[in-house]
Amino acid sequence: MITFRVEELIADESGLWSWAARFAPLLAQGGVVLLEGPLGAGKTTAVKALVRSLGVRADVTSPTFDLLHVYDAPGLVIFHLDGYRISDPREWDVLDLPPPGDPGALILAEWGDDLRVQYPERVEISLEMVVSRPEARRLVMTGLGQVFAPRLEAWQKEGAEHGI
Ligand SMILES: Nc1ncnc2c1ncn2[C@@H]1O[C@H](COP(=O)(O)OP(=O)(O)O)[C@@H](O)[C@H]1O
Ligand SMILES: [Mg+2]
Repeated sequence: MITFRVEELIADESGLWSWAARFAPLLAQGGVVLLEGPLGAGKTTAVKALVRSLGVRADVTSPTFDLLHVYDAPGLVIFHLDGYRISDPREWDVLDLPPPGDPGALILAEWGDDLRVQYPERVEISLEMVVSRPEARRLVMTGLGQVFAPRLEAWQKEGAEHGI
């Protein structure tokens, strides 16, 4: 499986919103994003910012208690999942998620490690705290597979050309 990795240091929450505005176009044709990182790292905030950037006006809230929220974006249905309270991987089955490669569906999953087998082609976003900088986050994007590895590489090159 080919992979491509990009790392950024995010200075504060507004920096995460700007990252989301730059990153959202990479997800506009659908796909699967697994968000990793400890509680409070900013996974839900990142999803909120991505969903907004994809054109959804509705309020985006954490699906920790109801596992799944669905949003309609232009040309895209967005599934926001939170597996924090899922203890048995079979619980994901009842959510009736779209099949891999569905071009009209975007899955954004917090605590979604269990979905790795089902969706080998995906993006992983990891958010980590930075020692002695409470507002900063280390953000690592990994594109896995024939679609997302090259797409992430192109995304990085494009950013570099625009001096980001
Ligand atoms: N750079 C940052 N990126 C994201 N969130 C930040 C940042 N700095 C501070 N925060 C705060 O950290 C918290 C992140 O919460 P949340 O997104 O719910 O995390 P998670 O879903 O990973 O548990 C929010 O209260 C947010 O305001
Ligand atoms: Mg969360």
